[in-house]
Amino acid sequence: MTENPDKFREARSILAPFGVRIQRLNRAKIEVQDPRPENIARFALVSALESHRRPTLVEDSGLFIEALDGFPGPYSSFTYDTIGLQGILDLLRHYRTRRAYFQSTVAFGSPTITPRLFTGKVRGRISKRILGKNGFGYDPIFIAEGSTKTFGQTSQSSKNMKSHRARAFQRFARWFLTPSTHTVAK
Ligand code: IMP
Repeated sequence: MTENPDKFREARSILAPFGVRIQRLNRAKIEVQDPRPENIARFALVSALESHRRPTLVEDSGLFIEALDGFPGPYSSFTYDTIGLQGILDLLRHYRTRRAYFQSTVAFGSPTITPRLFTGKVRGRISKRILGKNGFGYDPIFIAEGSTKTFGQTSQSSKNMKSHRARAFQRFARWFLTPSTHTVAK
């Protein structure tokens, strides 16, 4: 479940090689205010399962910038819509460190399965300029460790090789496809 079509598109492309198919549940994700994506995802999943009584995935993600004590973190979506990419670059102008990471937490559950959380992170840094038109959100200002290009300058398949979302959804898929760990009425 996500209101963000870009996140859904990425999740679907990450899960496709595992043979796991997902459908988008187009309804508002109930978001509690909490600094940790894990708590936001778990709460949103439990709320969704009250009315959607089927196996459900909820993802919560954000960009955490070290010099800004983790801001925008849980406010990533709001910050993107308000001060935007240039606002973040302006805030960082006087800082020496530009270290940051993306985190994605996937919560999975059903009426009979207690919620399970799967988290992925990708560490990197904030670029000095907005670069590239691929991806969405903060992709044009995020350079993953070991790369010289922003996610906005890389293809979807390259981003999927190392992104926070790929790591979280791959962890979920490996667990989901190991039947001895659980039983799900698919
Ligand atoms: P939420 O998980 O719906 O609260 O949204 C998190 C926000 O973080 C998104 O709206 C984006 O602005 C940002 N974000 C999360 N993942 C990514 C990513 O892979 N690339 C760029 N921005 C992201």
